[in-house]
Amino acid sequence: MSLVVYIDGAYVPKDQASVSVYDHGLLYGDGVFEGIRAYNGRVFKLDEHLRRLQVSAQFLQLEIPLPIDELREAILETLRRNELRDAYVRVLVTRGKGDLGLDPRKCLRPTVVIIADTIQLLPPEVYEGGIELACASVRRPPPDVFPAQIKSLNYLNSILAKMEAIRQGFDEAIMLNTDGFVAECTGENIFLVRDGRLVTTPSYAGILEGVTRNTVIAMASELQIEVQERLFTLVDVYSAAECFLTGTAAEMVPVVKVDGRTIGDGRPGPITAKFTEHFRILTQTEGVPIYE
Ligand SMILES: Cc1ncc(COP(=O)(O)O)c(C=O)c1O
Repeated sequence: MSLVVYIDGAYVPKDQASVSVYDHGLLYGDGVFEGIRAYNGRVFKLDEHLRRLQVSAQFLQLEIPLPIDELREAILETLRRNELRDAYVRVLVTRGKGDLGLDPRKCLRPTVVIIADTIQLLPPEVYEGGIELACASVRRPPPDVFPAQIKSLNYLNSILAKMEAIRQGFDEAIMLNTDGFVAECTGENIFLVRDGRLVTTPSYAGILEGVTRNTVIAMASELQIEVQERLFTLVDVYSAAECFLTGTAAEMVPVVKVDGRTIGDGRPGPITAKFTEHFRILTQTEGVPIYE
């Protein structure tokens, strides 16, 4: 069965799904998006993702051209039409079709696209054996340049860091903020385990505040494990007992080496394993049902 893609209210076969070359999402990266997963017939954290989409759109003064309840239903309907139970959903709202100038006022109506498909972000073996990272020279932008809290269609900052990692033979990169503190990876947040506690970057320090990150923080309170949201450096990463990454597409990824330094004993650690297992149970049992 060929997949169908939602574009502005229509469900279009995947190989015919397209937007105008005058769309400012394409011309300027002017737009916002979300990456959402469905597991076992349920959409995980759907409302949290929709809230973040609204926050990002509001920052860009981009009006989502349909009520949020209708967008929510369109996401579920796209999954239903594609008969998917386990999927990765990409929701985009672009500034829409304009002319060749930057002026967003020329774009009369934002474009909404919903793609429901699958994604394999990292090689499957990293989930068992752990991933090795390198720190990129490219920094996450500070809020007075562009707030990393916004999930905009312009991902060149992350792409440059990713390319740097790939050039060095790694699949993912750690990115620092402009003060030299660890921010996040190119599409994942980062957690350390130190003295039996979780440590993660605060949301104001040059990161996208991940839905998965927030899920892990909530899980920690259930598991009675303390979480410190504080700034930390590469020294703290290298000397952590454990380290793991979180993201909707990547899910939970154990980190075993950073810049050639072995983390802990060089294998995914017990606290990481505990959270990964809890996360697996949560994703299999929670979420908005697609078919009921
Ligand atoms: C830059 C960046 N950081 C972190 C994340 C993780 O966020 P979430 O857990 O909401 O997917 C993403 C996900 O897209 C991202 O692009």
